[in-house]
Amino acid sequence: MSSFVVVAREDEVPRGEVKVVHAGTKSLCLGHCEDGTWGAIDNVCTHDGGVLGEGELSECQVECPRHGGQFDLLTGEVRALPPVYPVNAYPVRVVEGRVEVDVGVPTKELEIG
Ligand code: FES
Repeated sequence: MSSFVVVAREDEVPRGEVKVVHAGTKSLCLGHCEDGTWGAIDNVCTHDGGVLGEGELSECQVECPRHGGQFDLLTGEVRALPPVYPVNAYPVRVVEGRVEVDVGVPTKELEIG
């Protein structure tokens, strides 16, 4: 069962930018890629807690502001070290100018231990 919740207005996040948003108790990094695609991943870097929603977005990859690790905005996979473990990624949709994230079903569960 999907559980989309509104996290932002579409015009709050221009293409090429990320933003910290909240969905219930979850803190997320919401991003709007240059090609118009939206994505949302966990806001906390798995390396050392950097705030991904305060990082930079380029080609749908988020660069952590602390040590430059990179994550794929759409899958949560690591694209550049030092992080080793992925973050969760969540489905995003835009409905009548509202950006919604389904935090009930991560597209990729974190696989540790
Ligand atoms: S805390 Fe994100 S790369 Fe180190």
